[in-house]
Amino acid sequence: MEKSKVLIVGGTGYIGKRLVKASLAQGHQTFVLNRPEIGVDIEKVQLLLSFKEEGARLVSGSFHDHQSLVNAVKLVDVVICAISGVHIRSHQILLQLKLVEAIKEAGNVKRFLPSEFGADPARMGHALEPGRVTFDDKMVVRKAIEEAAIPFTYISCNSFAGYFLGGLGQLGTIIPSTDSVVLNGDGNVKGIIVEEYDIAMYTIKSIDDPRTLNKTVYIRPPENILSQREVVQIWEKLIGKELHKSSISAEQFLSSMEGQPYAHQVAVVHYYHVCFEGCLTNFEIGEEGVEACELYPEIKYTTVEEYMKRYV
Ligand SMILES: NC(=O)c1ccc[n+]([C@@H]2O[C@H](COP(=O)([O-])OP(=O)(O)OC[C@H]3O[C@@H](n4cnc5c(N)ncnc54)[C@H](OP(=O)(O)O)[C@@H]3O)[C@@H](O)[C@H]2O)c1
Repeated sequence: MEKSKVLIVGGTGYIGKRLVKASLAQGHQTFVLNRPEIGVDIEKVQLLLSFKEEGARLVSGSFHDHQSLVNAVKLVDVVICAISGVHIRSHQILLQLKLVEAIKEAGNVKRFLPSEFGADPARMGHALEPGRVTFDDKMVVRKAIEEAAIPFTYISCNSFAGYFLGGLGQLGTIIPSTDSVVLNGDGNVKGIIVEEYDIAMYTIKSIDDPRTLNKTVYIRPPENILSQREVVQIWEKLIGKELHKSSISAEQFLSSMEGQPYAHQVAVVHYYHVCFEGCLTNFEIGEEGVEACELYPEIKYTTVEEYMKRYV
């Protein structure tokens, strides 16, 4: 079967740049949206040029120019959007409605993967304010996709390793301490941690797969379904030292957002649902979903221990 041509939107982003690389690695003709708005952002320009060198094609297009988006999506079979959706960086999820309009008009796209890449927003209807905005906005985009009858795959990849492991499950730090850690409650709630390039590889695997059509792909590497305590133990083994441990209750954790900037409050809510409630692991995958490691056992994923060696 001929491999789909892929357009990555948000290709210079944290997950986007890995999607570009994984798409090229898996032999897809890969197009990357090049927005004029990036202006003189030299880092982005250099990154885009490096994609070009690796074989990607840069396509000019802007969210402020509908026709340019239509022209860009007409070049490909599959569109993957990795636009920003973390308030501490930037939150642009609803801009994707413009992309949905363009895909609808172009009419040729066989699969659209919107910017999700986290907890399943369909299971977060109960999420607290103000963090629920991330899930609510992602659901608005889903509704537009489904109303336009655009074939889709939603990637629910759980926690990016860089945030969760870097912080040992704590908010606001991304380099693991060699001295101490604050446990979320008893630290025994299970999360799921996935290395970012692995996320991209599973994502690209899914795009031509009929089993993932109109489904949510959950990425649950069996060895990476771990509690905060288990992550800390792995780290302690690697550094050969026990950390001093204290604990914060759910109530204390939530009240810590009072008076903090909005972006921080959003993050507190996300960590609350992941680390105290266990929203990544407290459900079985149903009819609407499939699990990536079962679908693609040929991908040798990065374990938490392998990932954490980089910090030693
Ligand atoms: N599971 C987790 O732990 C986790 C953690 C972080 C993020 N996420 C999710 O992953 C997805 C991507 O997040 P990210 O952190 O990778 O994003 P990011 O690096 O902050 O940004 C991605 C890209 O979005 C594009 N963008 C930013 N502002 C824009 C604007 N005003 N107009 C148009 N495009 C704009 C840019 O791409 P170009 O300049 O190349 O167009 C940017 O490089 C989001 O859905 C987010 O919720 C999940």
